[in-house]
Amino acid sequence: MRIFHKLLHEALRDEASELLQNSQSIPGFSHRKLGSVDGYPILLLTPNEHKTRPNILIASGFHGDEQAGPYGLLHFMRHHRVNANVSFLPLVNPTGMNKKQRNNSKNENPNRGFDGTQELSEEGKILLKHDKLLRKLASDGFLSLHEDPDKTTFYLYTYERRKSPGDFSETLRACGSKWLNDTSMGVLKNQESSSTKVLETGLVFNEKDSSYESYLFQNGVPYAACTETPGQIDFDKRVLINSDLVKTFIEFVATRS
Ligand code: NI
Repeated sequence: MRIFHKLLHEALRDEASELLQNSQSIPGFSHRKLGSVDGYPILLLTPNEHKTRPNILIASGFHGDEQAGPYGLLHFMRHHRVNANVSFLPLVNPTGMNKKQRNNSKNENPNRGFDGTQELSEEGKILLKHDKLLRKLASDGFLSLHEDPDKTTFYLYTYERRKSPGDFSETLRACGSKWLNDTSMGVLKNQESSSTKVLETGLVFNEKDSSYESYLFQNGVPYAACTETPGQIDFDKRVLINSDLVKTFIEFVATRS
């Protein structure tokens, strides 16, 4: 009977609402509903105490089966205060989160189509409806927390105004890989195919892939990244890695802005 109740509770659990409520309960932020999908708000949190620079935007939960991102972001918000103007999109894809699936409830990928090469998702349309505001909030840097459900190693996509990966890429790569004793991913280089790049170096550099991070970088954001924690390792550890990635990202951008 206890197992039945546990299963029933899991089945009825509205994880997206719980995450959104938890995000809103953190003091020091104003909440704004940018739009909604199936009745779930797409929330933006901006700091009440406005600091002029740097302007940083952190997003998580673009993909519903990459759950450590939103929990890592919550962990960061609960445990760290920052000397920067940092805003948050805590859960971009609430309907995917509730179904524990990558895409939204309409089976659209919320992280594609921003460059007009393919159809935009509901969530993408909401983000672009507030494009001017979000680009202003991200004007010094944008980080999107993702996971790769199939992997045991960390990798990431980075964007910086250079021909080859620089300090920004290396700082974030080192942050993620140090948690996994995975420094063997080592030398940074850029190659032709994404899959080869990921396998050999843990880094994909300045990839134009119609994602939100690629879009923001092409529209003036100087530092952008999409980090991919490995879905095959312990969940609590992935939460801590994501929290550390947020902290490291903010510290890096703050020293360069
Ligand atoms: Ni993803």
